[in-house]
Amino acid sequence: MSAPNNGRRGLMVTIGVLCIAGALAAAAPAAQTPVSIKLPPQSVNFREAPGVELAHKDCLTCHSAEYVLSQPALSKTAWTNEVTKMRVAYGASIPDIDSDAIIAYLVAQNPVPAK
Ligand code: HEC
Repeated sequence: MSAPNNGRRGLMVTIGVLCIAGALAAAAPAAQTPVSIKLPPQSVNFREAPGVELAHKDCLTCHSAEYVLSQPALSKTAWTNEVTKMRVAYGASIPDIDSDAIIAYLVAQNPVPAK
């Protein structure tokens, strides 16, 4: 006669199998072979000017100088919004203390022509 607790035993077996599978997965991590990738050469750098070190430190973590410098001429307000967007939308860790100098640097790189 099969015991009325068959369902429970099945559950225990399932849990046991999952535990063993988990232990094996933890004990044998996937083979860690070094992977090498070739990045395209950087042909454009941030130009030397006051604040350039902040552009290097705060912007190049995620994208190239070429990407930043290929924007059209933007006003101070537009660059301020851009830096805020990098922080808020994309999680850039740009310290508050860098903001004014970096915005001034960005505005100076491609000033909006006077009308
Ligand atoms: C944490 C990563 C990160 C950092 C740091 C960062 N950005 Fe970005 N940035 C992004 C992402 C993601 C995009 C959107 C890319 C896309 O749409 O393909 C972007 C897009 C841009 C664009 C294109 C216009 C736009 O609004 O999408 C500009 C200009 C830009 N970033 C400027 C900057 C400047 C200047 C800095 C440094 C002050 C900076 N970023 C730092 C992640 C970052």
